[in-house]
Amino acid sequence: MATSLLPSGRPPWLPELTPMPGGCSLAILRVTAAIPVEAAEQLAVEERTVAAAIVETRRRAQFVGGRIALKAALRATGASPEALQEPILRGARGEPLLRDTFAGSIAHKGRFVAAVGGSRTNVAGLGIDLERVERITPAFAARVANDDERAEARRLRIPMEVGTTCLFATKEAVYKAVSGPPTLEFDAIRVCLTQSIARFTLDGASRTAQLDIRLSEEWLLVTARLLTA
Ligand SMILES: CC(C)(COP(=O)(O)OP(=O)(O)OC[C@H]1O[C@@H](n2cnc3c(N)ncnc32)[C@H](O)[C@@H]1OP(=O)(O)O)[C@@H](O)C(=O)NCCC(=O)NCCS
Repeated sequence: MATSLLPSGRPPWLPELTPMPGGCSLAILRVTAAIPVEAAEQLAVEERTVAAAIVETRRRAQFVGGRIALKAALRATGASPEALQEPILRGARGEPLLRDTFAGSIAHKGRFVAAVGGSRTNVAGLGIDLERVERITPAFAARVANDDERAEARRLRIPMEVGTTCLFATKEAVYKAVSGPPTLEFDAIRVCLTQSIARFTLDGASRTAQLDIRLSEEWLLVTARLLTA
């Protein structure tokens, strides 16, 4: 668990990059409601068209910030300038559409945007989720995680809301790493926090996601790395 998580005191719209296992890269940035010209200029025409159609200003900034963050992460892993000029549009399920050679994922919460990028030669899929630790109802905890998962979180002696948010963020990150097939429900993913892994079955095959869990004050950032498709 890291102590610092989100970029504070850093100019907004400037990605902060962190190398991740598997040759991946994590980019985090802080966005403002007004999108500066330099940020808008980093987008492809198609991305600008999508952004312009988003009515809510914070959501528009998150969409733009997500593209900037993901491209910064991919650039840090060696993606070519030509590849980075291609738009990152949304697929049928809302997932970011990337070249087959890239893996990547985006999350945003409030004014923070995070993205993880990498090469498909090293990872089969990447997912990321950013959550603020907030009050959790017992009903929500029961929906997100099973008794064993919640018991393990209690053994780690972390507050209930931190443990449950961690389990929730992990499952959302895994969901994104496989681009969210409708068959993947909360109870289909088993999280082992002590080993930082999540296991699930998809299309009849068992899969494992390796987790990177960062907690700082009220923020939780979880990255899931799938090693086999
Ligand atoms: C898709 C989902 C994970 C997005 O989570 P969220 O908290 O709404 O939003 P986040 O800020 O974390 O992430 C948003 C980004 O996720 C990405 N995303 C959206 N849908 C996605 C999908 N199906 N697969 C991968 N990435 C996806 C997008 O890049 C999006 O940002 P953008 O629209 O600006 O490009 C969530 O809406 C969802 O449907 N979860 C499934 C619920 C569920 O049953 N979960 C069980 C998991 S086991």
